[in-house]
Amino acid sequence: MPHPPVADHLLYEPYPNAVLLDGWLVSTNSLTRSILEKMRPGDESVPINANLNPPHWEFGHLTWFHEFWVHRAGQVANPSLLGDADYLFNSSEIAHRDRWSIPIPPLDALLEYNARVIQKTRELLVKSIDAEKAYFIQLSIFHQDMHNEAFAYMWQTLGYPAPFAPFSQAKLDANNASSYIHFPETKVMVGSEPKSGFIFDNEKWAHSITLPAFSIAEQAIHNSDYLEFIESPSNQADLNPVTPPMHWKKERGVWYQRYFDEWRSFSAFEPVRHISYSDAKRYCDWRQLRLPNEHELSLLMAQKQHDWQPSHLWEWTSSPFTPFLGFSSDPYADYSQPWFDGSYQVLKGWSMYTPDRLRRSQFRNFYAPHRKDHFCGFRTCLL
Ligand SMILES: [Fe+2]
Repeated sequence: MPHPPVADHLLYEPYPNAVLLDGWLVSTNSLTRSILEKMRPGDESVPINANLNPPHWEFGHLTWFHEFWVHRAGQVANPSLLGDADYLFNSSEIAHRDRWSIPIPPLDALLEYNARVIQKTRELLVKSIDAEKAYFIQLSIFHQDMHNEAFAYMWQTLGYPAPFAPFSQAKLDANNASSYIHFPETKVMVGSEPKSGFIFDNEKWAHSITLPAFSIAEQAIHNSDYLEFIESPSNQADLNPVTPPMHWKKERGVWYQRYFDEWRSFSAFEPVRHISYSDAKRYCDWRQLRLPNEHELSLLMAQKQHDWQPSHLWEWTSSPFTPFLGFSSDPYADYSQPWFDGSYQVLKGWSMYTPDRLRRSQFRNFYAPHRKDHFCGFRTCLL
C-alpha cells in the first residue's frame, strides 16, 4: 500500500536543536513580558483603530496561539489552560473591533496563563523533539517575534516610551544616495527549497525565473530626499499633495522627528520611515524612478553586505503578494492564504525591531498599500 504523503511542514529540516529553541523561546517571551510589565497605568487603553490591538488582547492572543499549535494540536476539542481562550484570542474568529469589548482577563491572569504555557514547552525542550514539535515551536516563536515588533510600531504610533532597544541600527551615510548597482539579465532561483530549514508557506516553492537587467540603489531613500519631494513645487501644487510623515513636525522653520515619545533633531541622512506604498510610488514618479520588484530586492539583499546598505526598515516592492507556483497552505492556513487577493504588497528585508532569526532573504512580508505605521521605507530602481 502506498504511504500517505508527508505534510510539507514536517519536511522543513534541518531544525534547530532543543537547546537553541529554548534560548529563542526564553528571549522572545521575556521580551514580551517586559513590554507588558513596563507599561504605564492607562497605556493598555488604546483607541479603536484598524491598525492597533488592545495590548492585553495581543498578549493573550500570542500565548493562545502558542498553546493552540504546540500543546493542543491545533484542535479546539483539546482544552486550553484558560477558559474561553478560543473565544477571546483566536484572531481568525474574533472581529477586530470586538477585541475592544470582550471581557479580557486581568493582566495577572494573562501573565499566569503565559507562564504555564511557556513552562510546558520548556519541559518538552528538555528532551529531544521531533520534526512536528520543532515546526510548531518555531512557528510560535516567530509569531511572537512578529507581535513584539508590532508592539514596537504600535508604541511608535501612540507616542509611548520605547518598549525595547532595537536589534540593529542603520548606518548613517552622508554620501550621495543616487549610486546604483547594475545587475545584468540573470536567471535566479526565487522562493525556498525543500529542506532549507523553517519556511513560511508563501515561500513554496523554489523556482527559476529570468530577471531582466536592472539597476537598483545601493541605499534607501533618506529623509532629505523625501523632504525635497514634500517641499517640491509640483507636490505643493498638487490638489492632493503628499503630506510629511506622521512623526515629523516643523517648528519655526526647523524639522524634528519623533522616536516613540521623544522629539529629536531631524537627521537628513537617515533612511526615511513610515512611508506608505502609495506615497513611495508617488515619490518614484516624481523622481522618474520605480520601486524594485521582490526578486530584484531579494537579489540585492543576497549580496555581500559591504556591496549595499541595509536600511533596517521593511522595504516596499512593486510586487503584489501572490502565491508562487506550487503553493499550498501549511496548518496555520490563515498566515498567507486569506491575503492573496491582490490588495497587499510584498516588503522585503527586516526592520531594526526584527530579530536575526527572522532575517532571511526569502522571507516575504506583506501589508496593505496604505499602511505606514510599521517600520517601513523604500529604495528605488532606474526606469
Ligand atoms: Fe497573531
